[in-house]
Amino acid sequence: MAKTISLPLLLSPVSLSSSGSGSKILLIGGTGYIGKFIVEASVKAGHPTFVLTRESTLSSPAKSSTINKFKDLSVNFVVGDLYDHQSLVKAIKQADVVISTVARSLLADQDKIISAIKEAGNVKRFFPSEFGNDVDRSHAIEPAKSAYAAKAQIRRTIEAEGIPYTYVSSNFFAGYFLPSLSQHGATAPPRDKVVILGDGNPKAVFSKEEDIAAYTIKAVDDPRTLNKILYIRPPANVLSFNDLVSLWEKKIGKTLERIYVPEEQLLKQIQESPPPLNMMLSIAHSVYIKGDHTNFEIDAAFGVEATTLYPDVKYTTVDEFLNQFV
Ligand SMILES: NC(=O)c1ccc[n+]([C@@H]2O[C@H](COP(=O)([O-])OP(=O)(O)OC[C@H]3O[C@@H](n4cnc5c(N)ncnc54)[C@H](OP(=O)(O)O)[C@@H]3O)[C@@H](O)[C@H]2O)c1
Repeated sequence: MAKTISLPLLLSPVSLSSSGSGSKILLIGGTGYIGKFIVEASVKAGHPTFVLTRESTLSSPAKSSTINKFKDLSVNFVVGDLYDHQSLVKAIKQADVVISTVARSLLADQDKIISAIKEAGNVKRFFPSEFGNDVDRSHAIEPAKSAYAAKAQIRRTIEAEGIPYTYVSSNFFAGYFLPSLSQHGATAPPRDKVVILGDGNPKAVFSKEEDIAAYTIKAVDDPRTLNKILYIRPPANVLSFNDLVSLWEKKIGKTLERIYVPEEQLLKQIQESPPPLNMMLSIAHSVYIKGDHTNFEIDAAFGVEATTLYPDVKYTTVDEFLNQFV
């Protein structure tokens, strides 16, 4: 039955029945880098989709293209702020599922979302801001270590509060790492020399942002992902640094000079680098040297793998992704 709600927080009245079907999804951080892809995937999968948006963002020139795109997609904007408890509770009460993609600097403050979810009392699933390494199985050094610890602490609070959850361990965003082939400061993949961290042998995982978003939305109403970590490890996208370079060399028909950086040298560089470079380097250390994307088995007791659960999602391979740069 058609039901129109008009709440003070909504910019305009929303017809829930006309907005789609499936669980109602609220994004917190939906205007951010990965959030945008998840909002789009949610709408495209037919979910009534709500985005908690700060008033200042709605009129921000820097965000206007995102806001206009969301308008075209008939996304429902809900004015609110992570630091305004009542706005969070009101927004959450309209949703079945809450997905947070807030920025790294706000990770610890997701306890405010947890408090609001407890007060609202209606949430079937919470996806905290993760979308990277499995933070319970990482060997990161500082400063990544503290960022991962903040995500792990949010996991523990969710579990202690008995909130149903899914943690998305998406590993690397392809769009972040592949356009430069993980060469710091580069705007295109290298054509002469390539810097490889460590011996280049541990396997990393790269996924296109649209695919990460599609798997995340698939998991929303799936009982198999309830209280589990959803790992995104597309088999064709599990590659070592050496594999990646070889793949690129094949594409451009040229052999690159490989410059290997020993771990001790990288550790020194991390210590001497200012933020955010030290953060990027410490994440790279965890993945390319410690092998934290793949150095453990996914145990059914705690995790499931996305491409196994959703073979219907035709993911983009690293091989295909790199073609655009040739
Ligand atoms: N695996 C990888 O390769 C990779 C790469 C990058 C990030 N990540 C992870 O992905 C997650 C999201 O990161 P991101 O880079 O996508 O984030 P981001 O682009 O920095 O987006 C942050 C979002 O938080 C919102 N926000 C900021 N302050 C807020 C407030 N007070 N109240 C409500 N919302 C607020 C922003 O809204 P406005 O638009 O209003 O500013 C924006 O939508 C993080 O957990 C990060 O660690 C993973």
